[in-house]
Amino acid sequence: MQVIQSRRELQALADGERAQGLRIALVPTMGALHRGHLSLVAEARKRADRVWVSIFVNPTQFNEKSDYEGYPRDLDDDLEQCREAGVDLVFAPTPDQLYPEHAQTWVEVTELAEPLCGATRPGHFRGVTTVVSKLLMCAKPHVAVFGEKDFQQLAVIRKMAADLCMDVEIVGGAIVREDDGLALSSRNVHLGPQARREAASLSRALDAAQHAVAGGERDTDALLGAVRREIEAQPLAEVDYAELRDPETLAASPSRLIGPAVLALAVFFSPDPDASGARVRLIDNRVLPVGRRNR
Ligand code: PAJ
Repeated sequence: MQVIQSRRELQALADGERAQGLRIALVPTMGALHRGHLSLVAEARKRADRVWVSIFVNPTQFNEKSDYEGYPRDLDDDLEQCREAGVDLVFAPTPDQLYPEHAQTWVEVTELAEPLCGATRPGHFRGVTTVVSKLLMCAKPHVAVFGEKDFQQLAVIRKMAADLCMDVEIVGGAIVREDDGLALSSRNVHLGPQARREAASLSRALDAAQHAVAGGERDTDALLGAVRREIEAQPLAEVDYAELRDPETLAASPSRLIGPAVLALAVFFSPDPDASGARVRLIDNRVLPVGRRNR
């Protein structure tokens, strides 16, 4: 497995693979790899001859310096996991490789990036779309794979690729969960034992909403009320947002659902009693399949 830090070296390698007619798939990550990331690697493997992973903790998508600095980093372990997963190349650049001094160029998607995480984390998606554009221009992949765990991120990146006429296929990969339903996330390592137990309430709330919809519930206030009650029953949890939106446009769902809706959650967990540290923000989502006939 090759490990590359230089953007120019990566671009030359991409040209070489493309000249031989080989297909490249890129899985962009910020490292602290887990089975969720590895499922995207497996998805990439199905679609390309070469699977490349990028590992870069992107400073421009963090709202708080402390969150950026405290983000888990373990490059040696990440490289080991990539080797075991049969990754062909890891691109692990330093910030100056992707952000030349005095850079003035940003890539920004407008409406789709405004609600949900865009509203509560200003500038976050601008950082994501800017760095993903750069990664795509460095690795020149035919396919890039992103997780459905970050539902809005995937929608925003698809929109960016389409709007900017990018010659890359954007593929989504299913959410990988722990046994108790908690979606895998690099940030889960920051949860204390109590918060970790309470964090399973997100997926329980999603399951309950899905069950209610299957049973005929269409009232968005009733659905969201039940979701909030489930999560707010956890002493350390504070809901950042819990919303139902159109899975494609992310427009707010009507008061009675008449078609599929994505239930999107973001929840803060405080440190365990007697522990110190920052709050941990977790996100999760589920597309609720609402038949258009059953209104
Ligand atoms: P990161 O949080 O490291 O996630 C990298 C990719 O893994 C994303 O596409 C994310 O959706 C996916 N992922 C995370 N947890 C997952 C899970 N439990 N199941 C399936 N996929 C999961 O997302 C980012 O990094 C960054 O914003 C990035 C796109 C790399 C740009 O900096």
